Amino acid sequence: MAKKKPEGYLSAKESRRISRENRKITNEFEKKRKRKSVPEEEYVTVMKDEGNVLEIDNLHTYFFTDAGTVKSVNGVSFEVPVGKTVGVVGESGCGKSVTSLSIMQLVQRPQGQTVDGEIRLNMGDGKAYNIVNTPNYKMQGIRGNYVSMIFQEPMTSLNPVFRIGDQIDEVIALHNPEMSKEDVRKKTIEMIELVGIANSEGVARMYPHELSGGMRQRICIAIGLACNPKLIIADEPTTALDVTIQAQILDLLRELKDKINSSIMLITHDLGVIAEMADYVVVMYAGRVVEKGTATDIFKNPCHPYTIGLMNSKPVVGKKVDRLYSIPGKVPNPIDMPNYCFFKDRCEMCVEGCAGAYPEMVKLSDTHYVSCYRHYDNAQKEEK
Ligand SMILES: Nc1ncnc2c1ncn2[C@@H]1O[C@H](COP(=O)(O)OP(=O)(O)O)[C@@H](O)[C@H]1O
Ligand SMILES: [Mg+2]
Repeated sequence: MAKKKPEGYLSAKESRRISRENRKITNEFEKKRKRKSVPEEEYVTVMKDEGNVLEIDNLHTYFFTDAGTVKSVNGVSFEVPVGKTVGVVGESGCGKSVTSLSIMQLVQRPQGQTVDGEIRLNMGDGKAYNIVNTPNYKMQGIRGNYVSMIFQEPMTSLNPVFRIGDQIDEVIALHNPEMSKEDVRKKTIEMIELVGIANSEGVARMYPHELSGGMRQRICIAIGLACNPKLIIADEPTTALDVTIQAQILDLLRELKDKINSSIMLITHDLGVIAEMADYVVVMYAGRVVEKGTATDIFKNPCHPYTIGLMNSKPVVGKKVDRLYSIPGKVPNPIDMPNYCFFKDRCEMCVEGCAGAYPEMVKLSDTHYVSCYRHYDNAQKEEK
């Protein structure tokens, strides 16, 4: 670690040294990743539980920047069961998007690298891929066909200079090279209708700027679902939309998920959205999972002080408060994480052990896990 003068200050010389070291590290990763042929045993694996479509195991994704290493995802583990919706919550910057980009292998490279952990994706027939080691030429067949992603801002996901129909055509044709042009267009129109847009033929001829935000997000969903993916990752899909449209888009997602027999990993900072959609909830803080369980576990019996804080900072209809609660303090600097609980400095419920090492995940029930010293007494320690 470079010597710092005032907090966060790095001299040009130190910065150059860090960037040299970073290049060495990232070059190694890139060399491995860019190989033209990778033996199957490096990435073919088996699921721990066939009932899951995705298993994330101790995932670490770092960004090697000139100011230091940003540990955006720092040991995340959770599962997405087949046919279920898993909500991932946490405030901005806690690593939700980087986790989802890691699953798609779309983290900004070369500085962003998954340095440790496994992401097992169920490919069916008892086979699974460890995405972390899957080579690029295989990933192209996985994105869209097995996992697809819906982003926050639909305008930036669509290309402004191509017509809507052509953009959907492109995706369908790419994944189904045997389809004729007419069939592709037929499927495109079908997809536009499926996401609830009337005048499908007309919309197919429009450009993205001619549509409203809600319609654009529907188009993005159409593109994402065109190839019936097993897992849909929706990264804040309704944050850029107003509330009425938000409800419609969520309904649409839920309905389509059941129609194509898929599962959803829904990322949001909005607990209301989670309450409405999710079967399971994963609460993230500063690159780690602090609590996970079924929606009932988390909403009825939140155990981590951060989860409790999140619940309290949400307005409740009919409950009168002078001031809405807000969690004090701010997220620690991701370049320089403390070696004790990351939440300690903001926590109002600290107990004796809190100054010690980062708390391990403990099991409160078959589904409910929390990483907090307050619960060490009434739980068995869980090896990861
Ligand atoms: N390309 C990047 N380069 C450097 N740091 C990044 C990059 N992308 C994300 N980060 C950092 O990773 C952390 C997690 O970001 P992100 O996953 O986008 O948060 P969110 O939970 O809001 O989706 C943040 O501290 C962010 O600054
Ligand atoms: Mg994000």
